[in-house]
Amino acid sequence: MFNSRIVSTGSAVPDFIIDNSMLAELVDTSDEWITTRTGIRNRRISRYKNTSDLASEAAEKCLKNAGIKVEEIEMIIVATVTPDTFTPSTACIVQQKIGAFKASAMDINAACSGFIYALDIADSMISAGRFKNALVIGAECLSKITDWKDRSTCVLFGDGAGAVFIEKSSESGIIKVSTGAEGDKSGYLISKALPPRDPFQNKGSFSNEDSYIKMNGQEVFRFATRIMVGSIKKLFDEYKISHKDIKLIIPHQANLRIIEFASKKLAIPMEKFYVNLQDYGNTSSASIPIALNEAVEKGMIEKGDLIIAVGFGGGLTYGSILIEW
Ligand code: UT7
Repeated sequence: MFNSRIVSTGSAVPDFIIDNSMLAELVDTSDEWITTRTGIRNRRISRYKNTSDLASEAAEKCLKNAGIKVEEIEMIIVATVTPDTFTPSTACIVQQKIGAFKASAMDINAACSGFIYALDIADSMISAGRFKNALVIGAECLSKITDWKDRSTCVLFGDGAGAVFIEKSSESGIIKVSTGAEGDKSGYLISKALPPRDPFQNKGSFSNEDSYIKMNGQEVFRFATRIMVGSIKKLFDEYKISHKDIKLIIPHQANLRIIEFASKKLAIPMEKFYVNLQDYGNTSSASIPIALNEAVEKGMIEKGDLIIAVGFGGGLTYGSILIEW
């Protein structure tokens, strides 16, 4: 068995910023409602670039920071629920765009927990000696599946991508990854794909609107708070650590109230949680790697620091990770 560690990060977001007051022109909402109920003030929306474009930009920044050559990359995993196409996978399009032609490439879908799931796969493959390194990306253009007439969801989401490069290491790095799912709650957060079609009948039609996100916000909120609290507590208990040993907790950026709930319940100061949802909204699988990259760029994480990331979302899925930087 080998260790794997994150050696660099990168992210990319679209230039176009939609603030809460602009959304109030589209639906019956207000800056006051969105800010107090979610903490979100702005989100980035991609008008022209697709998911693979944002993923490739994040990847290129990450690789520049790693100082490695693209031909050295052995595996690319993209976590996304908003791929450019059913096939090829977004990872294959990224492979072509960045020129990483020696890399194996695949997408995975675990919604907002997707980045943690993808890291789990990459870490396991490296630990088993199957690959020496991997480029792991969370990338979304959620605006493609956002119902801009539904005030209960359109105020929440944004577009973006984040990437990490991980490699085999003799030093400590990824200490523990856990993932899970509660498929019995799948109906609480849905974006439909194409339905079955009888080739002998022309009945039925499917439109873009059918793919728009539908969410039972209160049920997902309940799940999210349970997962946030439970995942962090489990890691603390298993490794006999407390928040004092942790430099930073990077939660999925869905709602400030979810993070505040966990902070209060676990008696962890809010300063320990990295929060940037006010700038980007909920970018699903991209939210954790975008936040991680920002924290790294701000110099908030140094070698040897322990950090935790926790994801939760559609599926319903969840995942957590403990890392020594
Ligand atoms: O990444 C996936 C994970 N997703 C999440 O973690 C989302 C978890 N859920 C949430 O963050 C919250 O449930 C929401 C932010 C989605 C909603 O907040 P809430 O406090 O649960 O609001 P609510 O759904 O109970 O709605 C309260 C009221 C309703 O009006 P009435 O029925 O009380 O008259 C809604 O119609 O707020 C209304 N409302 C709005 N009003 C103004 C819902 N959306 C809006 C809006 N602007 N955008």
